[in-house]
Amino acid sequence: MAGEEFTLAKVFRDAKKHREIAGIITRYLQNRDDIRDMALDGLDLSGSKSILDLGCGFGFFTEALKGRVHAGAKITGIDRYPEYEWFYFQSCERAGLNADFRSNGIDHVRELDDNAYDLILCSYALYFFPEVIKDIARILKKDGVFVAITHASPHMPEFTSYVRSILKKNGLIITIDLPYETLINRFSDINGAEMLQANFNGVMSKDYKAKLSFGVDDHKDLVEYFNFKHSFFIPEIIDPDDELHHKVSSGIKEGLIKSKGLEITKNDVIFVCTGPH
Ligand SMILES: C[S@@+](CC[C@H](N)C(=O)[O-])C[C@H]1O[C@@H](n2cnc3c(N)ncnc32)[C@H](O)[C@@H]1O
Repeated sequence: MAGEEFTLAKVFRDAKKHREIAGIITRYLQNRDDIRDMALDGLDLSGSKSILDLGCGFGFFTEALKGRVHAGAKITGIDRYPEYEWFYFQSCERAGLNADFRSNGIDHVRELDDNAYDLILCSYALYFFPEVIKDIARILKKDGVFVAITHASPHMPEFTSYVRSILKKNGLIITIDLPYETLINRFSDINGAEMLQANFNGVMSKDYKAKLSFGVDDHKDLVEYFNFKHSFFIPEIIDPDDELHHKVSSGIKEGLIKSKGLEITKNDVIFVCTGPH
C-alpha cells in the first residue's frame, strides 16, 4: 500500500483513541437503527463457520455476529495495526466467538486459499484497499456472502464546507478535494456496486441515512473528532502542528457557538454480495 491512503490510515494506529472517537460518533448519530443489524438482518448465517473481518479495527462489525453464526465459528480479524488485537479479542469474547487476529495488513488476504470462507465482513475500510475485491471473491466460498459497509459520497458535506470556510478565513483556499474526499471516492455508494459486480453475480445495496447533530455546548467533542481526523481534512502539505491547525480547532468551536449547533449528513451504504466469480 502506498500513497495518501497509507498516510490517512496512520491515524488509526491509536486504537484507544479510535474507540473513543467512535463513541463520539455514536453519541451524536440521530439514526438509532444499528447499521450492522441492517446489514446482517435477513441473511441466514447459521452455517457460517469460517469468517473474516477485513480492516477489523476493534471489532465493531464482528461483534454484531453475536448469536447469528455457527456455534463452532472461527472469525479472523485482519488489520494493519497490532494495537487492535486486545480490543478485537474483547469484542469477540462479548460476542461469544472464537477469535484470531492478524496484524500483517490486507496483503494477508492474497495468501489465503481459494473458496475457503463462508462470510467476509468489511466496515468502513474497503476504500483503503478496493484492489483486494477480486481476492475477496476468490477466497469466498461459492455459496458464501461478502458484506461491506462504506460511506456514501459526499460524506459529511456540511463539515467539509465548514472546515473549508475556516481554512479560507485563515488565508488558505483549497479548491481540490480534501484528503478524506479522495479516500472515500475510491469506494463509495457511487462506484461500489459497479466495482463489486465485476467479481460477484449478486450485489444488493441498502442505504443507511443518518445525521450527526452537535449542539452549541458540544464543541469539545466536535473539536476532538476533528483533531483525531485532522489529516483527513487538512492536506498533507500543511504541518498539522502549526498554528493553522489550532486556528481551525478554535474556528470550529467558535463557529459552533455562533451557529448554535451543526447538523452533519452522514449517510452510509451496505453492499451484500453473493455468487463470487
Ligand atoms: C475507519 S476504521 C474501521 C474499523 C472497523 N472496521 C470499524 O468498522 O470500526 C478503518 C480500519 O482499517 C484499517 N486499515 C487501513 N488500511 C489497512 C490495510 N492496508 N490493511 C489492513 N487494515 C487496514 C485501519 O487500521 C482501521 O482499523
